[in-house]
Formats: sequence, C-alpha cells, structure tokens
Amino acid sequence: MTAPVLTEPPVRVRVPAKINLGLAVGPIGADGYHPLTTVFQAVSLYDEIVASRVEPGEFTLSMSGEGSEHLPVDDTNLAIRAAKLLLQRAGDPLFDGVHLTIRKGIPVAGGMAGGSADAAGALLACSVLWDTDTTPDDLRELGAELGADVPFCLMGGTAVGVRRGDQLTPALSRGTYHWVLAIAEEGLSTPAVYRRFDEMAEAGEITPSADLDDTLLTALAAGDPHRLGPLLRNDLAEPAFALRPALRTVLEAGLAHGAVGGLVSGSGPTVALLAADETSAVDLSTALSGEGVCRTVRRVAGPVPGARLMS
Ligand code: C5P
Repeated sequence: MTAPVLTEPPVRVRVPAKINLGLAVGPIGADGYHPLTTVFQAVSLYDEIVASRVEPGEFTLSMSGEGSEHLPVDDTNLAIRAAKLLLQRAGDPLFDGVHLTIRKGIPVAGGMAGGSADAAGALLACSVLWDTDTTPDDLRELGAELGADVPFCLMGGTAVGVRRGDQLTPALSRGTYHWVLAIAEEGLSTPAVYRRFDEMAEAGEITPSADLDDTLLTALAAGDPHRLGPLLRNDLAEPAFALRPALRTVLEAGLAHGAVGGLVSGSGPTVALLAADETSAVDLSTALSGEGVCRTVRRVAGPVPGARLMS
C-alpha cells in the first residue's frame, strides 16, 4: 500500500444508515430489479470515510469496525468502484488517486444501506479531495449507477424513493423519531431476499405491488410516533422471515416491550423498533438487550442529514 501524500490534508466524511419506513415492492422487471415505492429515513448510525491522496492511478482501501473483515478491499468494493467512477466522469487520471479508510458503524449486510453509505461517502470525499466540478445532483446520478440506495445516503433526511428507490423526493417529517435497532448475529443477502420474494410471488403467497398509500406520509408530517407505528410496512419482511424465522421473535419481543411499531429494515436482518419517545427508547433497548434475541441493540434517532464533511 502506498503511503498517503502528507502535504494535503485528508477529507473526512460521515454517512448515515437508512431505515425504510414503508417499502412496497412490485413484480420483478426485465432488468432484474423490482419497482419500488419506499419512504426512507436516515438515522444516527454512521460509517466514516476518510480519503487521502496517493499516487495517480492508485486506489486502495482499508476498513475497520465490526463485520468489516468479511468485506473485500479490492476493486469489487463499492467504495473503490465509486472513486473510480468519479475519476472516469469528472476527475483527472493524471493527478488523481486515493486511499480510502472506512470505519464501519453501520452493520454489514444489515438492511441499512451500509455498502451504499460507503459508496456515497467515497463519492463526496473524493469530489472534495480532487476538487472535481460535481454538483450534489451529479453525485446522486453517479450514485444511482452504483446502487439503488446510494442517492438517498447522499441526501439523507426523509424521502420517498420510486423506480429502484433511487428517484427521490424529500418528504415532510416533523420532530425526531426514536428507534431501537436489533442487530442480528449474521447478515442477509439482499439478492437472496428478493429471490425469495419472487418465489413467494410465484407461489401466490404474496401479491407484489409497488403502491404505497399516503397515510404513512401524513403520519410522518404530523410527527406522531403512535400514529406512525401501525403504518410501518415492509414487503420484504415475509421473505426475510422465511429465510430467518428468528426475526419474527425479535419483532414480537420489541412490541411486547413497548415499541409502538416495528419492522424489518430493508432486506433485513436488522429489526427497527419505533419508541414513543426517548425515555421509552432507553427502556426498550434495555429490555431487548436482556432478552438475548439479537447480537446487539443500538438506540438511534432520525431523521438526520445525509453524507456530510466532518471538520
Ligand atoms: O442496487 P443494489 O446493489 O442495492 O441492489 C442489490 C440487489 O438487490 C440487486 O442486484 C437486485 O437483485 C436487488 N434489488 C431489486 N430491486 C430493487 C433493488 C435491489 O431486485 N429495487
């Protein structure tokens, strides 16, 4: 690995995880993707990405944090792919190279857009390091080429996503929501969950539809967790339960301990439980930890901004 050129300060970025508060999934399309309507919320669990300039044409990566040992650090890593895509479209191959350091706080393969967060962070950090002429819209467009959740990781807040989930419109959300995340011992593969979704659809066990009604957005705008709780919906929950039956127990335990709602996050296996307020979230996280139904429990709040430079 080449040592970073020390004359130029590294660029630090932090990027939040996401929860899908609503996820309506339609039938698989010819492109192999499923049309979606989803409501994203960015929550206060972060990956940190540091970009340091190295020799032109060099792209290296080191990672730390729980689960990071399972991730590749070569060209197949989404963060390296993001840096290379930015270089191709907006950088200068004669001058640009990067060493990325990623500290993972977002669970790996947890349904919280950890990989997409790193791609978003790499895009933003490299655009600053290399001083590329890219607007936030440009970065979001590049992000969509890398993964469906990358544009939202850049944007943050609360937003409705359609198509693959990458066409975003900001949504009104009042106040702060307090979540308790039950993080599983082992991740779930997103393509495997979608495959199971297709099998269940073929067997007539579920009817795919990308329609999500407005009640969820109305509740979000009202800022009332008691109203929002029962409206949380994830069409990938059944396939995730089919692949990992223990997740149902986690969700039931959370509801039994006072959560006002809960759902599998994205393609799972993280379960997100909505608390009535911050005090209830503390009680809920203590009770859930005591149950021993998951690897670890984290308390987070949302919405929070998307990828941001750190001072
Ligand atoms: O775009 P991303 O890399 O996040 O997607 C991972 C996988 O999840 C895709 O290869 C595809 O199998 C599945 N997927 C899907 N429909 C979507 C988003 C993802 O089938 N809307």
